Amino acid sequence: MNDFEILSEVIKKRRTVKPAKMNGKSVPDEQVKQLLELADWAPTHKHTEPWRFIVYAGQKAKEFVSQHAELYRKSVPEDKFNNDKYEKILGNGNNLSHLIVCIMKRDEQKRVPEIEEISAAAAAIQNILLGATSLGIANFWSTGGMTHTDAMKEFLGLKFDDNVMGLIYLGYTDSEYEGKRVIPLEEKITWK
Ligand SMILES: Cc1cc2nc3c(=O)[nH]c(=O)nc-3n(C[C@H](O)[C@H](O)[C@H](O)COP(=O)(O)O)c2cc1C
Repeated sequence: MNDFEILSEVIKKRRTVKPAKMNGKSVPDEQVKQLLELADWAPTHKHTEPWRFIVYAGQKAKEFVSQHAELYRKSVPEDKFNNDKYEKILGNGNNLSHLIVCIMKRDEQKRVPEIEEISAAAAAIQNILLGATSLGIANFWSTGGMTHTDAMKEFLGLKFDDNVMGLIYLGYTDSEYEGKRVIPLEEKITWK
C-alpha cells in the first residue's frame, strides 16, 4: 500500500468506541506517549502550539472519572440532580485504560484568534485518535458531563481563557463498528 492508501484506511477505520464497549485491558503507557508525540505535530499558526494534555493511567483514570461524577453532583442543586447522568459519567470508568484531558491553552499574547487555537488543538486530538486507531486502541472523544464547565476548569487548575477540548478515553474493544455519514458528501462541497 502507498502512503495515501495506508492513511485512508486508518482515517476511515477510526470509530468512536465508548468505554462501555471497552474490555478492561491496559494500553501500554509507551503507546500513549507515542500518541501524544503525534499530537504534537498538529498544524499551529504562529507556533502557539496550544494543545496540552493531562494523562490519567489505569487506577488514576478511574479516579478521575469518579471525581468527574462528583463534580457533577456538587455542581447541581439537589432537586436538579439527575442520577442517570451521574451514573453515566461514573460508568465511563469501568473498562477504560487511559483518560487524556485535552486542553487548549490560550496564547498569553493572543497572537492568533481563539478559533485558530481551538482548531489547532482539535487537529492534535485527531492525530491522537488516528494514531490510536492504527495501533488497534479503541478511542472516544467526549465532551459530555462537566467537560465544558467552569467547575472542570477550576478542578484542573486552568486559566479562564483556556478550554477543555474534550476527554479522550482509551482502551481496547472486542467489538467492531461500522461508520456512517448522514449528509451526502456532495452537499458539503462546492467546486467553483
Ligand atoms: C468534539 C466532539 C465531542 C464529542 N462528544 C461526545 C459526547 O460527549 N458523547 C458522545 O456520545 N459522543 C461524543 N462524540 C462522538 C460522536 O458521537 C461521534 O464522533 C459520532 O457519533 C460519529 O461517530 P464516529 O466517531 O465513529 O465517526 C463527540 C465527538 C466530537 C467530535
